[in-house]
Amino acid sequence: MAVARVFKLVKRFEGFPKEDDLKLVEEKLASPKEGEILCNTLYLSVDPYMRVFVDDLPLGSTMIGEVIARVAESKSPDFKKGDLVASFQGWTSAFLTTADKAAKITHLPEGVPESVALGTLGMTGRTAYFGLLDVAGPVKSGETVLVSGAAGAVGTVVGQIAKIKGCRVIGYAGSDQKVEMLKALGYDEAFNYKKVDLSETLGKAAPNGVNIYFDNVGGNFSDVVLMKHMSMFGRVAICGFISQYNNKSDDTSKGEILYGSILAKELRVRGFHEATYAANAEKKKEANEQLAEWVKQGKLKYKETVTEGFENAAKAFVGLFTGVHHGKAVVKV
Ligand SMILES: NC(=O)c1ccc[n+]([C@@H]2O[C@H](COP(=O)([O-])OP(=O)(O)OC[C@H]3O[C@@H](n4cnc5c(N)ncnc54)[C@H](OP(=O)(O)O)[C@@H]3O)[C@@H](O)[C@H]2O)c1
Repeated sequence: MAVARVFKLVKRFEGFPKEDDLKLVEEKLASPKEGEILCNTLYLSVDPYMRVFVDDLPLGSTMIGEVIARVAESKSPDFKKGDLVASFQGWTSAFLTTADKAAKITHLPEGVPESVALGTLGMTGRTAYFGLLDVAGPVKSGETVLVSGAAGAVGTVVGQIAKIKGCRVIGYAGSDQKVEMLKALGYDEAFNYKKVDLSETLGKAAPNGVNIYFDNVGGNFSDVVLMKHMSMFGRVAICGFISQYNNKSDDTSKGEILYGSILAKELRVRGFHEATYAANAEKKKEANEQLAEWVKQGKLKYKETVTEGFENAAKAFVGLFTGVHHGKAVVKV
């Protein structure tokens, strides 16, 4: 009988999540029945959205998230032993599931690690793809694209796709090392938002205004961008607002000014969920294949921070909110 190591939510997150809000336990797994597969997790994903979604999760639940796994035993005609799969199983080192809850991974180019199917060639890569090309699109060559949270899982991909499309790309991230990484990835301008004045640097980097703002952080940063730095008819893709995930605030006082700017410059501002796009199998396949093709051609580089050891998953998760990771954060089981 297989035994899985599993992280359970044992305390509500208050402000910043803490490692001891989660507890590692062991669970026995039954043998697969007809239509089921038994899988061993290779990598699990830690993502900012978990901070928000977990508020609705009953205490004692398995921590949520996507994993990449190998099929160890199959009683399904759709899978065989050794198949690589992605599945939303939460933080578990092994799992038993029905075939419909696992997706075979077939788009990884040779030599690319399996973990990349959680990042640049997975959910966060598709978020960049759909958010930039569809939500903020159509993207025209020569446009100025601004990315906040630029050195993260989504941001590293957004900037590179924007370069592929011939745009001028400006990124902001939270350390000098991250700024260097962004420049190496092809960002035309990159700044450490903790050290520079946003309005001053952005005013110089985008003197004619920003055509596309891909927003990962929200908060005051985005207030300044929307109120002062968008061009006429600019487009804003609201992907996330990580700067606010650990706050509980009902402050709506800036709403009026923001609305004024949106109207005056006739901006198109749209929030979106990758999951809505990926629910369409054709669209998901198109994104996976295009991203993989760019990786194969050397036009798209994947950046990830791999934390070794399943037992360190909570630490890796907490690190999302202190900025310790570069690119996609994953945990190697
Ligand atoms: N809409 C969707 O379908 C979708 C899908 C995936 C992700 N998202 C959202 O997109 C955003 C980026 O996701 P990701 O997976 O790429 O995460 P990520 O950027 O890899 O992870 C976290 C990074 O955010 C930055 N950060 C943390 N706290 C911050 C703060 N208070 N202010 C500014 N930056 C802060 C840190 O980088 P620095 O060192 O640069 O501060 C940190 O390394 C998140 O808001 C996430 O929720 C949305």
